[in-house]
Amino acid sequence: MINLQIPHATTVSALRARIKSWREDGLTVGFVPTMGSLHDGHLSLVRLAKAQSDRVVASIFVNPAQFAEGEDFDTYPRDMLSDAEKLATAQCDLIYLPEREAMYPGGFASKIEMTGPALGLESESRPHFFSGVATVVAKLFNQVRPDVAVFGEKDYQQLLVIRQLVRDLDFPIDIIAGETGRDRDGLALSSRNAYLSEADRKRAAALPKILKALADALSAGGDVQTALATARDTAEAAFDGVDYITVRKAADLAETEPGPLRETGRILAAIRLGDTRLIDNLAALPFKGPNPG
Ligand code: PAF
Repeated sequence: MINLQIPHATTVSALRARIKSWREDGLTVGFVPTMGSLHDGHLSLVRLAKAQSDRVVASIFVNPAQFAEGEDFDTYPRDMLSDAEKLATAQCDLIYLPEREAMYPGGFASKIEMTGPALGLESESRPHFFSGVATVVAKLFNQVRPDVAVFGEKDYQQLLVIRQLVRDLDFPIDIIAGETGRDRDGLALSSRNAYLSEADRKRAAALPKILKALADALSAGGDVQTALATARDTAEAAFDGVDYITVRKAADLAETEPGPLRETGRILAAIRLGDTRLIDNLAALPFKGPNPG
């Protein structure tokens, strides 16, 4: 039995009972799914949900289906008491803490496979990832049945995958994007930053700077491939590995055309520092100057 300073539900029936009473009072419900280990970025999503709805549910569930063998499922940071305190300060109304058995009972045999925005990028290194995310998010949506759900732009590809899922499967839920929270040196807030040694944490600050320099080069009319090559060289020198650094169309992650960027893009990157893999992304505004020739 956990004793948290905020209302919480560990079963679908307890969750639904609480939400039913809100619905009977005519209240709207916002939802923020998380895997815990909460930082200010998560809390800003909760605040955004609160601004859009009368009551907010945040779930904490480290979803085994989105981790492959050898990834950090077992070591993923977990601190329920601290998470509950933080959620209370962000005016969260209910924490949903499903047990693994409630999400994946014996005999569970369903899986949502995503294509479209799920193809490439994260899926190159983590082919299981978006299927695990889509499956658990669909379950959570059915359990909570919120009016709105908030996802961070930090996981930009995930955000587009969720929008696709909601469109394709007709979930009557508005998906709202929350801006990426950043540390003072610009590093995107992430639960995985906790894995970094002090030295690697300092090196990590180069990532947002490389993305910003690339965004500036593109909005100034730089050729996409040339600007990308410079960014990739800088990233390869700064980090222990670069899984990808690329510019895609912001709306659907389709490849951009050669030459200057002519529509709003998204710069996306995944790099490695020691054993830690970090991702980040940034908007790339199109070049507004004249066409060449
Ligand atoms: O972004 C996350 O924390 C997870 O992928 C999510 C959406 C909670 C699904 O497990």
